[in-house]
Amino acid sequence: MSESPQRHAVFGHPVGHSLSPSIHRRFSQQTGIALSYEAIDAPPETFAAQLDAFRAGGGGGANVTLPLKTLAFERCAQVSDYAARTGAVNTLEPLSGGGWRGHNTDGPGLIADLAERHGQDLRERDLLLLGAGGAARGVAYALLDAGVRSLTIANRHAERADALADRIGQPGRVHVRYWNDLADAGSWDFIINATSAGVQGGAIDLPFSIVAPRALCYDLSYGRAATAFLAWARAARAAHAFDGLGMLVEQAAEAFAIWHGRRPDGEPVYAELRAQLDGA
Ligand code: ATR
Repeated sequence: MSESPQRHAVFGHPVGHSLSPSIHRRFSQQTGIALSYEAIDAPPETFAAQLDAFRAGGGGGANVTLPLKTLAFERCAQVSDYAARTGAVNTLEPLSGGGWRGHNTDGPGLIADLAERHGQDLRERDLLLLGAGGAARGVAYALLDAGVRSLTIANRHAERADALADRIGQPGRVHVRYWNDLADAGSWDFIINATSAGVQGGAIDLPFSIVAPRALCYDLSYGRAATAFLAWARAARAAHAFDGLGMLVEQAAEAFAIWHGRRPDGEPVYAELRAQLDGA
């Protein structure tokens, strides 16, 4: 714990909509650990210089969001085992001798939300992961570690699904299906939307037949970006349809613990943001 306020920031592009500043301010109030937390808009071309300037100006731990997570990984002198597997960093921890240690708290944040908040047992579930970009990569390893029986990746551009499956390298457990063949590919009791279709406001075209009885459907995004997928999941009679707000809060709690050595309770912050989002 530190007595003097620490300066934190989230870097992204765009970043104006980020809830991270308000989440970390609430964690600060809850724990009594003084800090400031700002959102810094950083295009990829200037991110490295902006990060250096932040550090030179007394900045401490930082978060990184789209589209900078791979670039952040490349800036790190050290990375955690989990970040090394994903090749992406969302949390930067300042090293005392200079430089950064990179972490990826997205996967652990998702597992905390599903297992602890929603009380879901992920073991023995057969998971269909929609999307094969950075968001999918960030959570795939944590889901395998959490004990899902199988992981099937489907992506509009099949070669990216193949590349992610190859990277994970568990051929007995990780499979790939063509997006356009999903209607004939069977059903899954766990489906995660890791595409950016909702964020981009685009439609997502999926057959109801992929939803097994008692299925758990989860969208990594939240708010308006998750609306279409969650409406589809409910229409397909999924037992559960969750958005990624809880994951957002829990990945922030993990980052806070890395910086301050103490994990805040995400629940009251989640409840407050949930009420705000649902009331909006
Ligand atoms: P992110 O870091 O959010 O994952 P990304 O790496 O650009 O961003 O990946 C976006 C993902 O959303 C990809 O899997 C993309 O599919 P393609 O690789 O085929 O482009 C997927 N995606 C975006 N819009 C989509 C849509 N309308 N339907 C299905 N998949 C979509």
